[in-house]
Amino acid sequence: MRIAVACDHIVTDRKIHVVDYLKQKGYEVIDCGTYDHARTHYPIYGKLMAETVVSGKADLGIAICGTGVGITTSADKVVGARAALVRDMTSAIYAKKHLNANIIGLGGRITGVGLMEEILDAFIETKFEPTEKDKNLIAKIDVIAKRKDSQYLNEHLFDPFIEKWNRGEYHD
Ligand code: RB5
Repeated sequence: MRIAVACDHIVTDRKIHVVDYLKQKGYEVIDCGTYDHARTHYPIYGKLMAETVVSGKADLGIAICGTGVGITTSADKVVGARAALVRDMTSAIYAKKHLNANIIGLGGRITGVGLMEEILDAFIETKFEPTEKDKNLIAKIDVIAKRKDSQYLNEHLFDPFIEKWNRGEYHD
């Protein structure tokens, strides 16, 4: 199984821990960045990771920022992404089993490392087993998602921002 992982600069150390943890379990990991502690913005990496999942290059995705909120929300904006921000095992299992989530979001400053590992294990190992009710709800969610198609963002959306950072011109 291939798993794409993304983070912002706040939680790079935790992302590295997660990458090592997954590799040690035998998973192939695609690390979408960020790779250091230099200030950046989480939508860049949430988008890249989600596109890696939606394109089929990865089977599942993991999004981590300080709270998990920003990067998970960003990832879920990519058409075809089904991202769930969780703090507990029950929600992680629910997201996969009932809603077929393909991305799990976590807060590196919220959730401790031990719980995070267990949540990841549960998310990865849980199978999608929808009830009829789940199928109906997923169909409704998909109707909402289709409305995003016309607004879909091109792959170079963040290039001007990245170029500014590379030129040292970035200001908050
Ligand atoms: C830092 O950019 C912080 O806002 C981010 O890591 C995250 O907590 C947002 O949800």
